[in-house]
Order: sequence, then C-alpha cells, then structure tokens
Amino acid sequence: MSDTRRTFLRKGSLLALSLTAVGQGCAHLEPRYQALKTANPRRGAVLWYSQTGHTSGMGRLMAHVLRSEGLEVAESDYRRFDASTLTSCDFIIIGSPVYYFRVPENLRRWISALPRLDGVPAAAYVTFGGAGHNQHNAAFELLESMTEKGALPVRMAAFSHMSTFAPTWSTGREARILRYRDLPNESTFESARSFARRALATVRARENVVIETEFSFWQALKRLDMPWWTKLMSGKHAINREKCIQCGACEEACPVGAVSYREYRVDRGRCIFCLGCVNNCPTGAMEMTYSGSEVYGYPEFLRRNGITLRKPREFES
Ligand SMILES: Cc1cc2nc3c(=O)[nH]c(=O)nc-3n(C[C@H](O)[C@H](O)[C@H](O)COP(=O)(O)O)c2cc1C
Repeated sequence: MSDTRRTFLRKGSLLALSLTAVGQGCAHLEPRYQALKTANPRRGAVLWYSQTGHTSGMGRLMAHVLRSEGLEVAESDYRRFDASTLTSCDFIIIGSPVYYFRVPENLRRWISALPRLDGVPAAAYVTFGGAGHNQHNAAFELLESMTEKGALPVRMAAFSHMSTFAPTWSTGREARILRYRDLPNESTFESARSFARRALATVRARENVVIETEFSFWQALKRLDMPWWTKLMSGKHAINREKCIQCGACEEACPVGAVSYREYRVDRGRCIFCLGCVNNCPTGAMEMTYSGSEVYGYPEFLRRNGITLRKPREFES
C-alpha cells in the first residue's frame, strides 16, 4: 500500500469519527486578576500572522489606538518578532487569519514555543472570509493558546473581510467572495479601534469578562488535518522559471520553509497549503492547479475586479 493511500485511510477514519462526535462541550476562559502583572500597562505588543494584509491592517490600527492611550507599543508580524522580548511587555494583542476553520498551525506552534507570560493580559482577534465558519471558536483557540503560557485572557473579537482562499475564485465561485468586496469598511475599522480600547480598559478596571466557545459543526473539523485534505485537490504547485523575477516574496511568505526561490523548489510534503506563495507572487510565477483549474493570487483577483482595499483614516496619506 502506498504512503498516500495509508495516510488517506488513517485521516478518513479520523474524519468519520470526528463527524460522529460533533457535539462538543462548551469551554470558557476568564482572567484571574490575582496574577495580573500590572493594571496600568505601559509596554504593549501587537503581533499578528498575515499573508494578504487583512490581519496586519487590523493590528496596525490597534497598535495606533494603544499608542494614543499612552502605551509604548511594538507591532509586528510574528515571523519578524523576537519572541524573547515579549516577557518585558505588560499587554499583548495577538491576531490571526482563520485558515481551515482554525488558527493556522505555524502560529500555534510559535505560540507553544513562547516563554512563560505569567500575569500578562492578552487579547486575541481573528480576521476571516465573509460569513466564515467557526471564526468565534478560532478566536477562542488563539486566546486559549496564550493562556496556556500563563497570559490572562481579556477579550477576543472576529472581523469579517473578503476571503483570500484563491481556489474559490479560480474555480469560478468568485461571487461568494465578492459579496464582501466592501470589507474592510469604516465600521470594521471602528470595531477594531473599539476592541483595542475596550481590551485595555478591561485590564485597567480589572473587569471580569467571561469568554466562551460556541456550538459549531465546523469545530469537529478542527481535529482533522484540513490543509492535507485540501492539498489532495491540488495538482501542480511549482515555480515557473520564465515568469520568476527572483524577488523572494514566495519564500518570505511561506511560514514553514517549503519554498526555495533560488532553487525554484516547492517541498509539497512540507507545504501546509496556506497559499501565501500564490497570494504574494507579483508575477504569477508560482503556478498551482486546483481541481484542474489554474489558481491565481489575491492581488490579481483584486485587479480583475477593480477593487482597491480601503485604509483607515489614520493611515491615509
Ligand atoms: C488557506 C486559506 C484558508 C482559509 N480558511 C478560512 C476558513 O476556514 N474560514 C474563514 O472564514 N475564512 C477562511 N479563509 C479566509 C481568511 O481567513 C481571510 O480572508 C483573512 O482575512 C485573511 O487574512 P490575511 O490577509 O491577514 O492573511 C481562508 C483563507 C486562506 C488563504
């Protein structure tokens, strides 16, 4: 029996088991303020994982709000952030896109390797595509992973954007995504500002906000390796030497080191199917097929549909 077939059978049995065990208990988080580092945070960090700018856009806006509240704030994609400096912070906001109904595994792994953050208040947010699936529980998963490091859970939020899942439009279902073409809008920005302000106010007032999971069918899929199943639908995934301009954007975007642009190589086994390479290549040199169709990236999708994403007024030049 081939390795792929064996993995298929193993993951298939897991899928069947998970779908029959959809009913899951409700989990909850609440801060225990006895352990709080300080109710008057001075050094904050706003960190995110972002492939196409939605999550980083919200994060930058929140960092701006915290600065206006008097904090000194470090803001960064987690991939460019020195995690050892996090222990000097006394307030953290962390953001992630929802991928495959949950927090992407690369970010989960990074958080689990963080130093202890005992008593540091943390808030978490996710951005997701359109109506989304399981976004509330994905935000919970992100916040919970911070509490496993000793951080105190303060607040969480989920912000709707357009989906950046390239196979959707590439296989002809762009209407599903275009329904949300006006996002983010001023109301999204205002929600992000208010989230950051309220999270900080919650700490200053030592307010006890209880955060709970909600029932969702999609939560069952969390236990499965959804990127692996989705990857089964993809054919080609390779760099076209003629189109490649050797800019390195694909390698920089890949969170698991599966791409080497100098060697024109994609390690398909290591790939977690985040589409960061396809969604960031400026020349369409990262070629991929999905269900037989050519997959093209998010900037090209925006261009074809005449969409320019809005910026919050704070960053309009
Ligand atoms: C590989 C992949 C998987 C995704 N899976 C989901 C999902 O399960 N649920 C959802 O609501 N959105 C999903 N999305 C949409 C993204 O969560 C959403 O567009 C997000 O705002 C992108 O954030 P970013 O621009 O910071 O990377 C997915 C997007 C990609 C690229």
